[in-house]
Parts: sequence; C-alpha cells; structure tokens
Amino acid sequence: MPEFFDVVRSQRACRAFAPDPLSDELVEQVLEAATHAPSAENRQPWVFVVVRDDKERAVLGELTRRAWEGGGRRHSERRLAAGLLRDVDHGATGGVAAAPVVVVVCADTEAVSPAVLEASIFPAVQNLLLAAGALGLGSALTTLPLAFSAEMADALGLPDALRPVAVVPLGRPARPLGAPKRRPVSEVAHRERFGAGW
Ligand SMILES: Cc1cc2nc3c(=O)[nH]c(=O)nc-3n(C[C@H](O)[C@H](O)[C@H](O)COP(=O)(O)O)c2cc1C
Repeated sequence: MPEFFDVVRSQRACRAFAPDPLSDELVEQVLEAATHAPSAENRQPWVFVVVRDDKERAVLGELTRRAWEGGGRRHSERRLAAGLLRDVDHGATGGVAAAPVVVVVCADTEAVSPAVLEASIFPAVQNLLLAAGALGLGSALTTLPLAFSAEMADALGLPDALRPVAVVPLGRPARPLGAPKRRPVSEVAHRERFGAGW
C-alpha cells in the first residue's frame, strides 16, 4: 500500500479507463473508506449506488454527454486550459461511462438539514477518491450528469428523499495520469490574518 502523502499528492481525475472488471471486494474496500468520513451529527447521510450494468452505465453516460453537449462544453471552452478541456471532453463523451464501475453518490435529504447536507457528503467522496488511488484505481468526481437528476433518479429507482450529488467512475486507468497541478501552500495560506502571507 502506498504511503498516505503519496496517495494525496497523486490523486487526480481519471477519465479514460481500461475495461478490466473490478471485484466486489475492491469496490467494498473503497466504499468502506468512504463511510469513515465525518458528517454533521454523525448522520452519515450517504447512499452509494454501484452501477456495473452496461445499459445503466450507458444511461449515465448519455446524461453526461447531453449535459456537456447541451451547454457544458460551451461554458467550459472559455474557462478551461486546453488539456483539461480535452480530458473533460473525452470523459463526457464516453470516457466516464466506459469505466467498469460507476458509483452514484446520493445524499439523504431527510437525514440532515440542507445547510450541512453537501458538506456531509463530500468528505465521503474524497475518502472514496483517495481509497481508489491507494488501491491503484482511477476515479473522478463528476457532476455534469446532475443536470438531469430527475432522469438519473428514475433510471436508478431512487426514492424522493435521495438526491444524487456526484457520479464517480472507478477502474484501472487506461494510462498514467501524471502529476496534478496545484497552487502551493504559500499562495493560499495566511498566518493569523488574511493578507499576511505565509
Ligand atoms: C465539484 C466538482 C465537480 C466536478 N465535475 C466534473 C465533471 O462533471 N466532469 C469531469 O470530468 N470532471 C469534473 N470534476 C473534476 C475536476 O475537473 C478536477 O478535479 C480538476 O480539474 C482538477 O484536475 P486533476 O484532478 O486532474 O488535477 C469536478 C470536480 C469537482 C470538485
């Protein structure tokens, strides 16, 4: 198992996957790490729908493609660096749906107040991403298909109380991802008061 800081420093979005299936054991290990996240009042308002079925993954892929081609790409063209735009384009037009497993992370809207609902889900998503990385899997936090949440809920049979908040593909990366680009701590941290710098 790689060292914790190596996992954190190499964690990044994967949008191109090898077709090799993932065992239930591996998926459960990733989900178990997710369930160790903090949540408001320890309500653990997360629900994970693990999608392997080709047809279901195709539905999720189609919702992603529609969101991207129906406005997402136009919005992002002016905002994303060329390489990132290319990667997201690939992911949104089949790359994400080609992952052998797609986890739809849902929030139980009846479990905690709306003010802390998403804050009680994304720590679990981050744990999931890190656990995947530690096990040599690629993953990505995606939200594009949430533009069609109602259709997603319908396709997955979600009860009204469950709101999908993230769609995370999991699988072996098709190629090495390289190092992520991140701003250094010295650019984003301040001692005691904002503006003091680091
Ligand atoms: C809230 C959120 C929404 C995101 N939505 C998408 C998405 O819909 N599709 C996608 O391909 N990546 C999505 N990403 C992944 C980001 O593009 C990625 O984390 C960021 O560009 C950093 O890239 P890296 O992980 O390759 O370093 C999302 C990330 C976050 C945090």
